[in-house]
Amino acid sequence: MESFKRSYISLGEFIIERQTDFKYAKGELSRLFSAISLAARIINREVKRAGLNNILGDFGSTNVQGEEVKKLDIFSNEQFIHALKERGEVCAIASEENEGMIEFNGEFSKTGKYIVAFDPLDGSSNIDVNVSVGSIFSIYRKTTEGDCATLDDFMQAGVEQVAAGYVIYGSSTMLVYSTGNGVNGFTLDPSIGAFFLSHPNMQIPKTGKIYSINEGNYVHFPQGVKDYIKYCQAEDMATSRPYSSRYIGSAVADFHRNMLKGGIFIYPSTANAPKGKLRLLYECNPLAFLVEQAGGKASDGFNRILDIKPTSLHQRTPLFIGSPDMVEQAEAFMQKYAEAAV
Ligand code: AHG
Ligand code: MN
Ligand code: MN
Repeated sequence: MESFKRSYISLGEFIIERQTDFKYAKGELSRLFSAISLAARIINREVKRAGLNNILGDFGSTNVQGEEVKKLDIFSNEQFIHALKERGEVCAIASEENEGMIEFNGEFSKTGKYIVAFDPLDGSSNIDVNVSVGSIFSIYRKTTEGDCATLDDFMQAGVEQVAAGYVIYGSSTMLVYSTGNGVNGFTLDPSIGAFFLSHPNMQIPKTGKIYSINEGNYVHFPQGVKDYIKYCQAEDMATSRPYSSRYIGSAVADFHRNMLKGGIFIYPSTANAPKGKLRLLYECNPLAFLVEQAGGKASDGFNRILDIKPTSLHQRTPLFIGSPDMVEQAEAFMQKYAEAAV
């Protein structure tokens, strides 16, 4: 019997080995990622014993976006904030759970050169039913003058990200990140409490057989999206259609599956939500950065996500993301009706 092989390259070692991939000061990236990895491991611990630790359920309030907040949303947000604040590399953060940016005043404010936007817990409606959830993060350099960060630092287009990634708390827990030189995935060994390289140089398949969209909203979708769904469901041997429909309702989990297997995830505009649901800064941009680094595409239906210049922290955008051929096909359907409207 072939002996079981395992990876012995830890996240920490990998980052040190690949320091030259990161054009800024050595050590900064390690400290940033040690903070994110720590927050992820603490969140993972609570997620894995949710049900025993009184952390399931609603917190009893709504966030700035009017969404029901779960206890685990608040817990996860605190873990990210504390871990990032203590390292001194970060001068300000923006989170789904906080209306404004949070400045890390005091002793760290003059040294932090980075800002971080994050969704501390993505897919939180799935927590109570034991379905995969995640965390998403996006890292930029502070670009404004002066010691303290300003809102302008967060208004950089996604193409300016220096690193981005996500953690998926699934049947195993993984951290996937990119600094702009490809995408690498690490799996948590829970018995040791460390992430090890398990998915080197991740590449999304050029096309796939899975489409992910909340079809319950079908009647509210733009005509281009409706037509694309019908295209996915039509029979065609050459393109292996009909495709399979898979929708978890945690963007991270749907995205992660499509990264590995190929596919498209769509959260379009709807009649009630013309900008869709997902947030540009801490959901769409980091996933768009990763998918492009893995050979995929991310679009709002017409334009590249990473080129959008944000105007507010919590702004939303429609999202079409995944295998490049599939995103281009969906864009072609969108374009048809855009042209008809001119
Ligand atoms: P969050 O839990 O951070 O608010 O994000 C939930 C998002 C995303 O993860 C998922 O793809 C989407 O909401 C699901 O929305 P619908 O229930 O409208 O399909
Ligand atoms: Mn989310
Ligand atoms: Mn969230």
